[in-house]
Amino acid sequence: MPITTCVFDAYGTLFDVAAAARQAASEPEFAQLSDRWPALAEHWRQKQLQYTWLRAITQAHCDFWDVTQEGLDWALEKTGLEGDAPLRERLLALYWELQSYPEVPQMLQRLKDQGMATAILSNGSPDMLRGAVTSAGIEAVLDDTLSVESVGVFKPDARVYDLVSKRFGCAKDEVLFVSSNGWDAGCATGYGFRTAWVNRADDPVDRLPWRPAHILQDLTGIPELAGL
Ligand code: LAC
Repeated sequence: MPITTCVFDAYGTLFDVAAAARQAASEPEFAQLSDRWPALAEHWRQKQLQYTWLRAITQAHCDFWDVTQEGLDWALEKTGLEGDAPLRERLLALYWELQSYPEVPQMLQRLKDQGMATAILSNGSPDMLRGAVTSAGIEAVLDDTLSVESVGVFKPDARVYDLVSKRFGCAKDEVLFVSSNGWDAGCATGYGFRTAWVNRADDPVDRLPWRPAHILQDLTGIPELAGL
């Protein structure tokens, strides 16, 4: 089956989630972050994701914005920045206007030129995703932005991946699903998508029953992969 539909995870894949902490650290009023921002960004991301998995398996779903704030609060405490209200406020504001990775707009345009359907499939709430898509200026090269909010459970629950076939009327093996999260790419392989893991940090492959079909260092090779 040729690939007809390219679907992207949002946070960490199209949008640089470390950009919020990195940006705040470069602002003079947040000098306290200058040596701590990499640790803060890492803890923030890890806790945010852990909370999504725990909420999915305990059937305690909430908006992704809630786990984003809860993960940040844990990370601020862990890095000794607890109670810094202006910093907390600034980091959360920056999360609504994350930069996309530099290759993203052209990569999506090339997919559209090839006649592919393109979409985001994300844990993010529709509001958060709208903010990020608008600030990255990529509305015109995406056919849709699919949020887990329409099924009320986080990834990697199969009901989330089901949203793609429902929206585009395509078979699972016509979909190239792209994520920078090894667990997301692995679980999407188990679901039946063709998958690409964007491994910018050269991390080891997650030890799951399923592996990503392709591993790339960034997103530039996606149009070529989709056209194979
Ligand atoms: C998302 C998270 C998992 O965008 O990165 O769904």
